[in-house]
Amino acid sequence: MIAIDFARRIESSVADAKPFGTRPLKKVTAIYPGSFDPPTNGHLDLIERGSKIFDELIVAILRNPEKAPLFGLSERRLMLEAMTSAFGNVRVDTFDGLTVEYATKVKASAVLRGIRAISDYEYELQMALMNRKLQPDLETVFMMPALKYSYLSSRLVREIGQLGGSVKELVPEMVEQRLKEKLDPAIKLKHARETKSRKRG
Ligand code: PNS
Repeated sequence: MIAIDFARRIESSVADAKPFGTRPLKKVTAIYPGSFDPPTNGHLDLIERGSKIFDELIVAILRNPEKAPLFGLSERRLMLEAMTSAFGNVRVDTFDGLTVEYATKVKASAVLRGIRAISDYEYELQMALMNRKLQPDLETVFMMPALKYSYLSSRLVREIGQLGGSVKELVPEMVEQRLKEKLDPAIKLKHARETKSRKRG
């Protein structure tokens, strides 16, 4: 009797099961958190890779009151939005507080982070494991950018820009232009004058 009942249950569950390929697949949303000060071609490379494996990718800029960034939050957001406009499944957002809390808020099940070299690994591993401790359901996915970006970082881009070097091929043209505007004293002065006269008028 028990055996017959069991066989019937298997029969009905097989009949109910939809054939593979017609079942709705679970949509995977990932966040790509970071400072992006400024966004570089290395970030863009990773965003492109991430957009291919996740259904939705949210580039999440950290609003960090303890750091004085070179680019304001809205400037970074504008640059990233322009850089990612061609990807239909990528959007840009800002967040503060814990990454894991933001991930829960946007229903993300993965955090995307880039690893350029072994030197990144220790910090990234520590962060990934701490995030796992805080939110066990959230997975961190590491991806490697193209080899040509393996030595590239926002910190070096800022430093090169501040010392008058060329950041061509390291950042998108628009970022290069904005960096020049931010750091060139003559352009800075012009902007300050324009803002002052706008306020007066
Ligand atoms: O681009 P960065 O500066 O390497 O990004 C670091 C970032 C934003 C991913 C990290 O500082 C972060 O997640 N900050 C949010 C606060 C938080 O969740 N801290 C605990 C991390 S284990």
